[in-house]
Amino acid sequence: MVTSMDKSIRRAGIVGIASAIPDQILTNAYFEKTVDTTDEWIVTRTGIRERRRAADAEAASDLGARAALAALERAKVPAEDIGLVVCATLTGDMPFPATASLIQDRIGASRAAAFDLAAGCSGFVYGLAAGASFIGSGLYDNVLVVGVDLLTRVTDYEDRATCVLFGDGAGAAVLSPADESCGILSIVLGSDGSGGDLLKIEAGGSRLPPSVQTVKARQHYIRMEGQDVFKFAVRIMGDASVEALAKCGLTPQDVDLFIPHQANIRIIESAARRLGLPPEKVFVNVQKYGNTSGASIPIAIDEAVQEGRLKKGDVVVAVGFGAGLTWAATVIKWGIG
Ligand code: ACO
Repeated sequence: MVTSMDKSIRRAGIVGIASAIPDQILTNAYFEKTVDTTDEWIVTRTGIRERRRAADAEAASDLGARAALAALERAKVPAEDIGLVVCATLTGDMPFPATASLIQDRIGASRAAAFDLAAGCSGFVYGLAAGASFIGSGLYDNVLVVGVDLLTRVTDYEDRATCVLFGDGAGAAVLSPADESCGILSIVLGSDGSGGDLLKIEAGGSRLPPSVQTVKARQHYIRMEGQDVFKFAVRIMGDASVEALAKCGLTPQDVDLFIPHQANIRIIESAARRLGLPPEKVFVNVQKYGNTSGASIPIAIDEAVQEGRLKKGDVVVAVGFGAGLTWAATVIKWGIG
């Protein structure tokens, strides 16, 4: 799907954004003790130095609700004024009910509809697309989009090729109608399900319900063909960003800040090269959090705002890729400062 926000419909913008990061830090030194790896390999191949792990008692709705309450406060939008909660996650509290409904209850969004959305690491931008469309259609005025994942819960800590990559976190954004000077300018969404086998959790669904055998075979953990996903990511991050920019009549030269999904520093650098962007226009925090899937982009946007790197009037491109395979890019004229 390629959309440049139609001028005849209401444009939506982010009016508040916040994140929730667990306290516990797993450094590369931890993995040097548990699997056959080195800090040097992890840093040079991925850029990751540490990642966060949620406390045992913490689930997706806990982190999601924390980020959501902080985003509502920053947006100065009361929870009762939220019409819809969309939660992008692969690691909800349980298969059902939806984590979005749990968050909706927890934050007191008593008049909101709620649903989850599964689009892997592209999920938050998919969520922005859903929220912007509901606002554009006039069905809702304020939409809360949460991106949360606890990938450490589904990571195989005996598989050195994946266990060093993933971390936990949450981010949330409040979307409201925006005036002509700012807001979401365009969105590109895509999916290629033929790549579904490259990145998956095999068991636990209707194809292979959980059993003693699936647990013994470790099929409830993430399995990934890293090199294939890497090649896909390098191609799609640049392509989707260029396409989203073209849809609103912009080029990479117009970009003030590029916020890519934080999976691997080499993927980020190669996408930035493709767009011809200098390092100061590229936001990177993968070294601190690893890959937090649906939370990666909202955490990065929030940190960019807090660090003063994203200011009112800036043109920001956020782009993600992930399980599905999916991809999603958006161009936003930043409207809060
Ligand atoms: N420490 C040391 N060696 C390792 C490790 C490790 N942690 N992991 C793998 N290796 C070894 C491999 O076994 C292999 O050894 P071999 O040559 O003897 O067989 C060697 O390193 C090279 O392995 P590659 O897989 O070719 O390494 P690569 O450079 O591709 O890096 C990585 C692997 C980091 C996983 C990379 O492929 C990658 O980042 N892929 C993209 C992953 C991604 O971004 N996923 C995002 C989506 S997540 C979502 O949607 C939930």
